[in-house]
Parts: sequence; C-alpha cells; structure tokens
Amino acid sequence: MEQDRQRLASKLNIGKEIWYMTQEQVRAAGLTETDILDLTRAALVAHGRKEYEMPAKIGVHPFQDVFFHAMPAYVPSRLALGMKWIECYPGNPARFNLPQTTGLLLLNDILSGCPIAIMDCAWITAMRTPAVTVLAAAALHPEAETFGMFGCGVQGVEHVKFAGLTLDKLKTIYIYDVKEENMDQLIAQVQPKVQAKIVKGRGFEEVTKSCEVLSSATFIVKRPYAFVKREWVCKGQTILPCDLNTFWDPAIPMEADKFIVDSIEEHQLFDRAGYFPGGLPRIACETGQILAGVRPGRESKDELIVCSNIGMSVCDVVVGRAVLDRALDRDLGLKLPL
Ligand SMILES: NC(=O)c1ccc[n+]([C@@H]2O[C@H](COP(=O)([O-])OP(=O)(O)OC[C@H]3O[C@@H](n4cnc5c(N)ncnc54)[C@H](O)[C@@H]3O)[C@@H](O)[C@H]2O)c1
Repeated sequence: MEQDRQRLASKLNIGKEIWYMTQEQVRAAGLTETDILDLTRAALVAHGRKEYEMPAKIGVHPFQDVFFHAMPAYVPSRLALGMKWIECYPGNPARFNLPQTTGLLLLNDILSGCPIAIMDCAWITAMRTPAVTVLAAAALHPEAETFGMFGCGVQGVEHVKFAGLTLDKLKTIYIYDVKEENMDQLIAQVQPKVQAKIVKGRGFEEVTKSCEVLSSATFIVKRPYAFVKREWVCKGQTILPCDLNTFWDPAIPMEADKFIVDSIEEHQLFDRAGYFPGGLPRIACETGQILAGVRPGRESKDELIVCSNIGMSVCDVVVGRAVLDRALDRDLGLKLPL
C-alpha cells in the first residue's frame, strides 16, 4: 500500500491535486477485453470471498422509473477505493438523444482518504457489465453453442462482443431489438471481431427457443413487461438479465431451479423500492461465490438457472483503478487543483 502511494505521489500532489479523465481518455487508457475480464473476475472473486466493503446502493428518484445511485466500494486486494455516481433515465434516448446511463467515478487514496481521480464512468460501466455476464455464463454454461441477446444498444453490443470472445464453443449468437437499425449496427460493429455467426432474430419467442444462454439489456422499470413468456423457456437454459425484472416473465426466476444474483443486498434493496411487485424469488447464492468456488454453480444439465446481475461497484472501482494506473503512466488526463 505504501509503495502504491509513493507511485501515485510521484504523479500527483495527493491532497492538493486530482486527476480528471474524459470518456475518451478512459477508453484511450487502453485496457483490453482480456484486462477487463481479468479485473472483473478479481472483483467478483473478492466479493465471493467477502473480501470487500460495499454497502447497497443508496439513491434518489426525482421521477417515477428513474434513479440516481451512489455506489461506494473498497476492494483491499486491488487497492481500489471509490464511488460511482450514476443515473438511469430509461427515457433519455427517445427524449434527448442521450444515453440512458451517464455518471462519474471518484477514486480515493486509501492511506490519506484524499480524492485522487474523477473520471467518466460510461465506458467502465459498458465494459464491466458484460464481463460479469459472460464470466457467469462461462462458469454456469461453458459448453454453450448458442447465445441470445435482447437489446442491441450500448450494453447489447458489448455483451455480444464479450460473449463471442469468452464462450469458446459458441457457434451462433442470436440478437433481437425492437429497433432493426440497432441490430444492423451491432452486426456491423461486432461480427468482424467474433467467430460465432451473429443472426438477427425474428422475435422474443424464436430467440428464446433457439438459445442455451440468454441475456437482456433493454430498460429497467418497476413494471415487469414479461416480453419472454414462461412457456418458451425450458430446462437446461441459463438466463442472465442485466435489466433486473423488466424483461422476463417474473414466473421464470420464481420457478427456476436456481436464482443467482450478483448481490443479495442490492436485489433486496430494489425489491423494497418496488421493482419486484410479485416478490423477490428465493436466492440460491451470489455470482461471485460461484466464481470464487465457494458455492456450486450448475449441478445438472437440466437445471434452469437465472443469474441476475444488477451491477456492483466492486467491479467499477477495480476497473477504474486499473484505468487510472494506465492513464498516469501515459499522462492521459488533466491534473486539476483540488
Ligand atoms: N446490470 C448492470 O450492471 C447494468 C449496467 C449498465 C446498464 N444496465 C442496464 O442495461 C440496460 C441497457 O442499457 P444500455 O446502456 O445498453 O441502453 P441503450 O439505450 O443503449 O440500449 C437499450 C436497447 O434496448 C432496446 N430495447 C428496448 N426495448 C426493447 C424490447 N422490448 N425488446 C428488445 N429490445 C428493446 C432499445 O431499442 C435499445 O437498442 C438498461 O436497462 C440499463 O439500466 C445494467
């Protein structure tokens, strides 16, 4: 820890200066998909071993169906301490042509507590979220040959890319979005990077019935729209929503053989806020516990598993800290007085 602080102090007058990074600079720091997967795995394993501090998000809600979350975390093994301040406004794309999710990540020096960096967190969120999904998918369903993605926006594009790079038996990736142009853009962007063939699905039912592993990244609201019906889902599938309880028939997680979540506390918090009007399904364990090997994942080929990952700041601070280290080495960012 002392050594790390000395390295930081050689670049930054801690307590007097802060390192500011734009979204472009965060991206340009140059973490690869492999780096993101390694860092996210480390954060999940630390979480699974209970080697972290991360209170459930607190939030404010100026309108129905929007939220701001304060997401602090400390992961000692990665010397990562900070907080993400992020909003989710599902109406932003249609109303303002702005992303649903924007925010900032603040990092602190562990020894003195002083803020050391502030950076845009859109790219980090866009990367660590699919990394969680595909690490869970690889642990729960490593032999999958088919992957289905609902929603082809920021998260959908990255999910398909990460799935194609991580699930090495994949032959076909089915995608579906209510906007045809978003599917076309996804294929144009991602097909050159992955071996599996990306196929445009014709609808919710066809994609659900064609895939062993499925994910969704559409929008998060309190009302479950249940676009995918219980009767289309079968034993043996693995379903990994990152849009909570909006997309899938709530009967699916209720009746699944295992309902796994990234954070029990976070899911209980969303339940209290009204996002599970039919009740929170019984939780088997946490995603990090499976990656850390302290709880079993899939125990039979026939299990229907739902693994809901709503996003944890342990992943944000670990990835953010690595971004900062790279950026300081490359002088990428702006030193500002505190
Ligand atoms: N779990 C996490 O850690 C985490 C992190 C970031 C974002 N998210 C959530 O992921 C979701 C997607 O975020 P994004 O940044 O990709 O948003 P986005 O606006 O870029 O993409 C959403 C996509 O979903 C499509 N869509 C909307 N309704 C649909 C439907 N019924 N069926 C199929 N497609 C539909 C839209 O056309 C769009 O292409 C949001 O709900 C966001 O809150 C979760």
